Amino acid sequence: MQPFQFPQDFLFGTATASLQIEGGDRNNSWYRWAEQGHIHDGTHCIVANDHWNRVEEDIGLMQAMNCQTYRMSLEWSRIEPKPGKFDKKVIRHYRNEIALLIASGIRPLVTLHHFSNPLWLEDIGAWTNPKVIRFFKRYASWCVKNLGDLVSDWCTLNEPNIYLVNGYLFGNWPPGKNFHLPLFFKAAKNMIQAHITVYQTIHKMRKKHRWNNTSVGVAHHLRVFDPATGTLQEKLLAQLHYTIFQDMFVAGMTEGKLIPPLGVGKTTGKARYSDFFGINYYTRDMIRQAWNPQEILGIREVPAGAPVNDLGWEIYPEGLYRTCKRYYERYQVPLYITENGICDRNDTQRSRYIFDHLKALRQALDEGINIQRYYHWTLMDNFEWAEGLSAKFGLVEVNYENQRRTIRRSGLFYTEICRNKAVTPDMIQKWLL
Ligand code: FCB
Repeated sequence: MQPFQFPQDFLFGTATASLQIEGGDRNNSWYRWAEQGHIHDGTHCIVANDHWNRVEEDIGLMQAMNCQTYRMSLEWSRIEPKPGKFDKKVIRHYRNEIALLIASGIRPLVTLHHFSNPLWLEDIGAWTNPKVIRFFKRYASWCVKNLGDLVSDWCTLNEPNIYLVNGYLFGNWPPGKNFHLPLFFKAAKNMIQAHITVYQTIHKMRKKHRWNNTSVGVAHHLRVFDPATGTLQEKLLAQLHYTIFQDMFVAGMTEGKLIPPLGVGKTTGKARYSDFFGINYYTRDMIRQAWNPQEILGIREVPAGAPVNDLGWEIYPEGLYRTCKRYYERYQVPLYITENGICDRNDTQRSRYIFDHLKALRQALDEGINIQRYYHWTLMDNFEWAEGLSAKFGLVEVNYENQRRTIRRSGLFYTEICRNKAVTPDMIQKWLL
């Protein structure tokens, strides 16, 4: 293991999402989904980490960990509980939270939509309804009007592909549709259009107020797809996975271009709709050809004997390097690693995971790839969607009996990384050997 250093202006931080940590809100699609008994381990999001009442404590943790930036999300269902009716108390709460972050030396990156919808939107078809573009713009405008002086960095959408694949193809997230391709494609197009519209709105509004340095992007969930045995058919299937699962979304949201099977041509002229390109990277899938019609796209599997996390996802750091390279070569837009992390209940793999993934980023930087930030997923254990509270992705452990937070060993390692912007020989000795 060799030490390495990051540039002094590189920013390190953590990421979370409102629904996964805040608790206390009954007006969203995930509350209903949990009430309906869909969470695998029988837990619920109604309390989660009670972050809504523990903002100061949690920002204190980030400060203690030397974080320079924090990716958080706003809960639409709280901000706009009824169509067009905005709750002033709620936006004040977020304003205070963001002001405290800034006062603590932590730069906010604010996500407008991270998987959960207000029920009023869910009940009219959520992102499959073309009205969502107008609604998302109205909501985003309210947020920028009230927070835009404090927040220059905005992420419109988190992982539109994961949201739609789970909700409309796999049926294990709300609204629980199984392999509904027409709705999947319809919603994908609406999400692309909504992103472009809100990208333009944020720029216009902040410019009008002369608030400079606006930076808007999407946090894309990006994987690596490799052929399992290397046959030509598998190579083609892996390409198909890249297209349908991610490049369709990436092309639409980065350059306003529709690619088949979503459509053809530019929705607008030649332009960029991303000031940064957000990469959420976790794992890779090996694609094996299947011979039955149900699995016409192939089977996704983990290579035999490969290291995996608690959820069985392959640990493949090189994939982060490959992903940065693939999309930087294509778009030359500065990259933020908007999420990267591991489900590791016993914290036996997390420090090494962080080291290996940062090393992959260092390699990409050495090759001239412009990567500016790294957000570890996640600050503290939280409500991991369909997996519930039992999946442990946190640098900080949370005891759900009493909400006590304890920084894990890997969290202490990350604390030193944030402070030094480097992994030194001493740190390797202390944390990794
Ligand atoms: C990503 C999500 C995030 C979290 C991690 C583990 O797909 O954006 O909310 O669930 O996975």
